[in-house]
Amino acid sequence: MKHPLDQITVDEITTAVELCRSSSSIMDDALFVNISLVEPDKEIIRNFEEGDDCPRNLKIRGIDSNEDGGFVAIVDLQTNQVKSLDRVSKNAQVTYSMTEVFMTQELTKADERYQEALKKRGITDMSMVQIDPWPAGGIVHESIEPGHRALKAISFLRENETDNAYAKPITGVISHVDLTLQKVTHVEDHGVVEMPKAHARYDADSQPKLREQPKKIDITQPDGPGFEVEGNLISWEGWQVRASVNPDEGPVLHQLSLDGRPILHRVALSDMVVPYGTADPMHSWKAVHDGTEYGFGTLVNSLTLGCDCLGEIHYMDANMLMFDGSVNTIESAICIHEEDYGIQWKHMDMNMLGANEVRRSRRLVISSIATIGNYDYGLFWYLYLDGTFQCEVKLTGIVGISAYDEKVHRKDQDFRISDELVAPIHQHLFCVRLDWDLEGGNNQLFESNVEALPISDDNPHGMQLSAVATHLKTESQAKRDVSSSSSRVWKVINANKTSSFGLPVGYKLLPGNTPTLLAHPDSPPGKRASFAKHNLWATPFHQDEQAAGGEYSVMHSGEGGLDDITSSNRDISECDLVTWHTFGVTHTPRPEDWPVMPVEYCGFHLIPVGFFEKNPTINLPPSCNSNSKSNKD
Ligand code: CO
Repeated sequence: MKHPLDQITVDEITTAVELCRSSSSIMDDALFVNISLVEPDKEIIRNFEEGDDCPRNLKIRGIDSNEDGGFVAIVDLQTNQVKSLDRVSKNAQVTYSMTEVFMTQELTKADERYQEALKKRGITDMSMVQIDPWPAGGIVHESIEPGHRALKAISFLRENETDNAYAKPITGVISHVDLTLQKVTHVEDHGVVEMPKAHARYDADSQPKLREQPKKIDITQPDGPGFEVEGNLISWEGWQVRASVNPDEGPVLHQLSLDGRPILHRVALSDMVVPYGTADPMHSWKAVHDGTEYGFGTLVNSLTLGCDCLGEIHYMDANMLMFDGSVNTIESAICIHEEDYGIQWKHMDMNMLGANEVRRSRRLVISSIATIGNYDYGLFWYLYLDGTFQCEVKLTGIVGISAYDEKVHRKDQDFRISDELVAPIHQHLFCVRLDWDLEGGNNQLFESNVEALPISDDNPHGMQLSAVATHLKTESQAKRDVSSSSSRVWKVINANKTSSFGLPVGYKLLPGNTPTLLAHPDSPPGKRASFAKHNLWATPFHQDEQAAGGEYSVMHSGEGGLDDITSSNRDISECDLVTWHTFGVTHTPRPEDWPVMPVEYCGFHLIPVGFFEKNPTINLPPSCNSNSKSNKD
């Protein structure tokens, strides 16, 4: 180990699993779910120098034959000991394992009631049936005993092995699987709806006619890329940051700094929820937490050079723990590269015969893409030359689908995306946790709203504005929502660090045009995904508070999330500050989303405010790309 935040190695996983297995007999039939780093205290990380001794603890989660929510073991790799082995509550259990997903598929296919329901729809060959297990928490079926692990399954039919099964939803059939008992407890059948006929294959060979190949674009950097990577430390244009993959959160950034000045200790996708808003029984219960229920990071893709990623790429791999204790190395799990980003700034002096000064912008991209069932989510972190930091989520993949049934489907809930199919309205809400370390000290949180001043003797034309800054001093005060009419932004400052003209050093959070949770606050997602009720939350740093919806969300009724975390209304007036930003999209599907949705974007920016004393890119050297050509050449 070279640094306390180094990614977990294959050897470390192997050792940790061996130590677990030899420590307790409960491990004899354990199914491992994931492994993650127990991050050392911030002080240790901050003061670490190469060669220092440093704690190295790994957290292993799994399930076994005990009737509870699973186990969590902390393994100390310095002393080669299992430090603790705790049971997880039945009310909020460890992430589903792939084994449970496969078990649900097998048990469902073998169930007579399920086979009978499919026979009514003319389906007798089970080999072409695709079964999609969904988390059973939130709205738990009465056939599932309280505290048991469970999944619900909906299904689709392929024409052949390479077909897109989502074109043929087996509408109205839902199987309930009790994973603890390892049996199907109930099969719902809401009545036969005719199987759709059209296929919706999205591979190139299946398109009747491909459009002409667009002209080639090459991104080349003949002098090599402008960034350096050592271990998991990335350096670029004054920025430094460490990247790794966490099994729940996907790509995580640590120790983000610019010109040696700390900004964030840690930033990651803390949780996400996708609640559906339809009465259609195939979807009405869905509100999945893709991060903590299925493991965003464990489902990260192995990216392909030239297809997923264009240009001069540096890839990082990620090691994941498999159910049987073996290691799955996801090759090329994180992609790092530079992109030209148009102009950074420009001015033409009209008085000086058109003297033109222009500088080009570019950005460093650190990204991963996770596929979770029918959906694909890209998580992109961007660093810019002017100190801007951006988080962007790219949503693509295949929407939830039913065969259109005029008796069931409402025009305002279930949107026609083809002659035979509808897709229900739903939301994708993401919560990013920002653990601040702005200029390496305690930070404060402000909200700014721009208001119009009343007409008065001092404001005779009614045009004067006022940007009102409010110091948010408690957790309750910091539960805030976007307001485009007042150009609302939130600002984090370090009051002890000021510019030469007295402004505190700060960073602004610029939210996008983002919704909050529309489901009722007392609904299952209102409780389980309380983070989605507000766009902003803030808390004083606490090591155990990393998950916006609670560390464990499987079969979870709603404890441990941001509602609980902030329930004692702690003081945040000047502290080791953590902000949580919820953003996303409300998705009313359209025909163009079928058969695969074109990428839709959401996210936010952080921009420096008084972090620099002037435009930090004013000293960029002019550059003119000599490979560029025009019709004037
Ligand atoms: Co969607």
